[in-house]
Amino acid sequence: MTTLPSHRTHDLVALARRSHAVIREHQHASGAYPASPTFSAYRGYAWLRDGGFTAEGMSRYGDLASVNAFHDWVDATLSARRDQVDELVALRAAGREVPRDLLLPTRFTLDGGDGTDEWWDFQTDGYGTWLWSVVTHARRHGLDPGRWRRGIEVAVDFVGAFWDRPCFDWWEEHDEQRHVSTLGAIVGGLEAVAGAGVPDAARASTCRDVAARARALALAEGVADGHLTKWLGSTAVDGSLPACVVPFGLVEVGSPLARGTVAAVARDLDADGGVHRFLADVFYGGGQWLLLSCLLGWNLAAQGDTEGARRLLDWVAAQAADSGEMPEQVGHHLLHPHTRAEWVERWGEVATPLLWSHGMYLVLADELGLLEGVQA
Ligand code: BGC
Repeated sequence: MTTLPSHRTHDLVALARRSHAVIREHQHASGAYPASPTFSAYRGYAWLRDGGFTAEGMSRYGDLASVNAFHDWVDATLSARRDQVDELVALRAAGREVPRDLLLPTRFTLDGGDGTDEWWDFQTDGYGTWLWSVVTHARRHGLDPGRWRRGIEVAVDFVGAFWDRPCFDWWEEHDEQRHVSTLGAIVGGLEAVAGAGVPDAARASTCRDVAARARALALAEGVADGHLTKWLGSTAVDGSLPACVVPFGLVEVGSPLARGTVAAVARDLDADGGVHRFLADVFYGGGQWLLLSCLLGWNLAAQGDTEGARRLLDWVAAQAADSGEMPEQVGHHLLHPHTRAEWVERWGEVATPLLWSHGMYLVLADELGLLEGVQA
């Protein structure tokens, strides 16, 4: 029996409008999408991972001005690091040790700086996600992706040089591992760019080559029991893995491995429509993440399971506050309840609103046809 929280379920279309408004309201004048404007540990910072998916939701909603401004911001932010990336690529090519503090960061301040707060840098998935997002947006709206060429080149060069290094995952953990969802974002981003006619022939060929090698590595070492795994050599799943199917296409929708991955995530991590990150998650007690329910729903919709996708959208809608704001996670079903208090003490209550949750709601609402006639 499905247990929904006591507050009312919002009207799904009204919640899409509200999601757009929340993202718009908090988008910085620079174009950056802050991860969560009010949450202590995220305030003042924008992530390429969150932003790339948020931009996809806004692109589907049809807010071109907002999405173009976001991609302009990323383009300027990355272009400013052209020399830094040239230096990194040269060190790498010479087989020299690359100091961590020289690598590009995971998140940026809203005006495109590195910021001074310590964070779990180095993560490559956000760069792949942004490449996929900017090209997908341009294609959807018939725009010339050449507008973002300089930033695209920096991201391609960075990912091309460091794609096979262990790094922190989507959840900013386990930098000793190579994560399959990270490889998925890299494949998705590089293949999108290779087909977009933006980079010169040499870079386009690097994109294809690195994407092929990343896919081969994931398939050789990141599969167990018929599903993709959390990291190379593991047997566990992670709630981010469906992204390797849709949208990143590391494996083809409907293939046995794609179906096996989506089914394993649903079996191990979906509790009544709310999807956990992974079984050992202790962050705020290990609750259910709205954006992961949307990701699973997006994949079910792509497999033709509209009813399953709608069930997940309904669950997400039921988690919104009366104001329509969506949190990062909810705590009705905690995997490790005893660890929640220490996080509340450290960083305060769960991040709300989380713009990525709203962006993913827009994506799934669009997959289910709910945005028709609503778009900006
Ligand atoms: C999550 C990341 C996310 C960041 C900002 C972290 O707690 O693990 O996936 O990018 O918050 O939303």
